Amino acid sequence: MLSFGKALQTRGAAAHSVTIMDQPVNPNPPSVARTYADVNAELGPSWWNYDDVQLRWGSQERYEITRKLGRGKYSEVFEGVDIANHNEFVVIKVLKPIKKKKVKRELKVLMNLRGGTNTIELLDIVRDPQSKTPALITEHVDNIDSKVLYPKFTDGDVRYYIFELLKALDFCHSKGIIHRDVKPLNILIDHSQRKLRLIDWGLAEFYHPGVELNVRVASRYYKAPELLVDYTHYDYSLDLWSVGCTMGTMIFHRDPLFHGASNEDQLVKIARVLGTDDLWRYLDHYGLDLDQSFEAQIGTHSRKPWSKFVTSDNQHLISNAAIDLIDRLLQYEHTERPTAAEAMRHEYFAPVREAEEVRKREEEKARKAAGAPQMVFMTSTANGDVQPGQT
Ligand SMILES: Nc1ncnc2c1ncn2[C@@H]1O[C@H](COP(=O)(O)OP(=O)(O)O)[C@@H](O)[C@H]1O
Ligand SMILES: [Mg+2]
Repeated sequence: MLSFGKALQTRGAAAHSVTIMDQPVNPNPPSVARTYADVNAELGPSWWNYDDVQLRWGSQERYEITRKLGRGKYSEVFEGVDIANHNEFVVIKVLKPIKKKKVKRELKVLMNLRGGTNTIELLDIVRDPQSKTPALITEHVDNIDSKVLYPKFTDGDVRYYIFELLKALDFCHSKGIIHRDVKPLNILIDHSQRKLRLIDWGLAEFYHPGVELNVRVASRYYKAPELLVDYTHYDYSLDLWSVGCTMGTMIFHRDPLFHGASNEDQLVKIARVLGTDDLWRYLDHYGLDLDQSFEAQIGTHSRKPWSKFVTSDNQHLISNAAIDLIDRLLQYEHTERPTAAEAMRHEYFAPVREAEEVRKREEEKARKAAGAPQMVFMTSTANGDVQPGQT
């Protein structure tokens, strides 16, 4: 019995010294993701250790820039063509000088997500032979600016695209990856094809329970409360908050939903809607303290009903189901937000799930009709004549 106890003690002591990519692992973190917590442990270091990624750079000559598409914080993005592949449209994301480690992380994430649902497809990686500037080649999406597109959405469109976004997130979360920058600019929609792609994996990170994460991620209006109160053991549920903000923008025609003038003011704007009682409860639960001046800045607010945001202009997008879902996504307590897969089962998406079922059945029918040779056989009529029949 004694040796058994000793063995346990040794194991406990060893657990404290465990590190993941030089980061200590807290064996008893204040919270752990409710799903997919152990996927990286199961997939192993070759999956998540992006420092060790082996990169094979393709030839830059293969691609020709046609026009500039945009400029992000960390990159310049161009539309181009792939000369070696029938001048197929591609997107060339030229990374600005950033830490090698960050480049490797974005590349490893994109490589791991290849073939995933609604995540942008990485086609190639190239490097300028002189400057060594890396560029990512991805599939091209004929995107419409969210400021133009979202106000035109029908109720059905919002349900459809949020469902497609959740598919992308359930996929990356199931692979142990938190996106950490979900927002309209990083959600590309080709409305003519009803195609959605989640892009910009520059801030994405692998989730390991007990490893502290940097809270300086995501874009201000989409930052979840955990980032604003310095809670470093956050998880995939961070992305679900940003989904709530994005959905709020769509259904309330409020862009952005929470319009903070600074990171601190962002929490003030949130607290004015969700109220301060639940915020103090959340902070107490995790033993978090805010500066006194920050606490004073937040003040005291009651919880406001979401119906406050309903106007004659947006009421066609509002339903009890929509309000219920938004209310669940936008909770301080990150462990109580639905996971992407749980959100997809919400009644708000019932029409989308049904339409998907019908489409699948029809595709299956069409596939069978096209694939299997048509069965023609001879049937005999009652009078003994033989004539062709069909199934
Ligand atoms: N595959 C793509 N298809 C069309 N436009 C794209 C694509 N990828 C990026 N863009 C455009 O370039 C912008 C910046 O790209 P992004 O990957 O978000 O870079 P950053 O990390 O610098 O924000 C996007 O907001 C979008 O407008
Ligand atoms: Mg971006």
